[in-house]
Amino acid sequence: MATHPLIEKFQRAGQGQVFAFHDRGSADEQRRLLEDAAEIDLEEVARLTRTLLAKNAGGAVDLSGLAPAPYEKHPAHGGDAVAWSAAKAAGEVALRAGRVAAFTVAGGQGTRLGYDGPKGTFPVTPLKQKTLFQVFAEKILAAGRRYGRPLHWFIMTSHANHAATEAFFAGQDFFGLDRARVHFFRQGRMPAVDFSGKIILEAKCSLALSPDGHGGSLRALERSGALDLMAREGIDTLSYFQVDNPLVRCIDPAFIGWHVLRRSELSSKMVTKAYAEEKVGVFCVQHGKVVVLEYSDLPMTLQRETDAGGQLRYLAGNIAIHVLDREFVRRMARGGEGVALPFHRADKKIPTVDAAGALVKPEKANGVKFELFVFDALPFAKHPLVVETLRRDDFSPVKNADGVDSPQTCRDDQLRQFARWLDANGAVVQTDASGLPSAAVEVSPLFGYDEDSFAEAWKSRTPKPRVESGLYLE
Ligand code: UTP
Repeated sequence: MATHPLIEKFQRAGQGQVFAFHDRGSADEQRRLLEDAAEIDLEEVARLTRTLLAKNAGGAVDLSGLAPAPYEKHPAHGGDAVAWSAAKAAGEVALRAGRVAAFTVAGGQGTRLGYDGPKGTFPVTPLKQKTLFQVFAEKILAAGRRYGRPLHWFIMTSHANHAATEAFFAGQDFFGLDRARVHFFRQGRMPAVDFSGKIILEAKCSLALSPDGHGGSLRALERSGALDLMAREGIDTLSYFQVDNPLVRCIDPAFIGWHVLRRSELSSKMVTKAYAEEKVGVFCVQHGKVVVLEYSDLPMTLQRETDAGGQLRYLAGNIAIHVLDREFVRRMARGGEGVALPFHRADKKIPTVDAAGALVKPEKANGVKFELFVFDALPFAKHPLVVETLRRDDFSPVKNADGVDSPQTCRDDQLRQFARWLDANGAVVQTDASGLPSAAVEVSPLFGYDEDSFAEAWKSRTPKPRVESGLYLE
């Protein structure tokens, strides 16, 4: 019997091991394996093997010409309050004109949290145990009402969680959003390879494929037709955030306004690093381009370097909140001469099969996954912009099951935010020195989703409720 042309192609590329057990699979398994294999760009895998797996790959990081990136200071840290008001007004104009959509990247595997199900379905709020998706949905719904233009919301999923994510939204009646404005699309996948570049099987007839990183969102937006849909709807600005951070202002008029006024193609929020060794990427400039340097690539001497005033020099931490221009995304997705996000290599323990086809759970890293990072688009953007925010207003992710960035720290940060809003508007709130209230309270985003909307809603609430455990404002 003639060999399938795709199998031949893999054999010619030295990847014939992918089909080692093909003949023994059921018709269904054989079909699926061929479908998955057809997705793989063998030339890309060969190139990544040459560049990222070679013995001398990953040598010293180029630090030439590196300097801290300039950024727009927050008014609380001496930023120009008048310029910030102008930015906010410009953002509000863009929102009223319907130019903005929300965009969540939710295709990650969430291995550190170890939760069974799409991460967006994880419950996070202190009283009502609302899920991450519900928190974002209500913020987006409320912002749409505030600006008189219901927002479109794009949600990037993975092959593994796409169906479950869609079913979850359907089961919750889309949290009151217009379902015609909620758009799910799948990100791409990349094969895992062993240290010699051979594509790994996770089972006899199944490839080890994983999502291609949040940077895969740029090409997935294009491929899925999302950019065309945006163009038809008059949307040119995407408010990008991660699925694990319920504190994020999904729609932040000042940030959007800065982006619009500066004609930026890619804007990023930053927070000042809490301490020198904090494990966040840092915004830098290098040879006239804005770049994010991962903490692991920034030598400790630079991480600890301070200026004359004793402040860290490299202090602009990346918190993965961006605003993207639609046509910039298209340009990046289409690529071309010198325009491409670089892949990063992550060494992982990848379950696989041995020569006899028996399942093997490796004790140590046995292969490599390749991922794209969205911030690598920065050097390609025109007029890139970094804007400061305060951590307490925008950032408390759920990454780990316990310890830092866990459900507990995130719950406490939400409580602190609610307490701060109440206190700023004259309510009596008992807190400890860290601002954590003694009463467990919760504010629905439909009541107030940021300082402004909260202040307005609180003003018109009569009589004012007492702040005590169980208080839920909606
Ligand atoms: P993380 O870097 O926290 O990765 O993703 P993760 O896969 O969710 O979690 P771990 O590392 O396995 O524990 C940051 C954000 O980027 C999204 C995630 O869903 C999250 O919102 N992401 C990450 C994608 O959408 N696709 C990817 O391929 C990777």
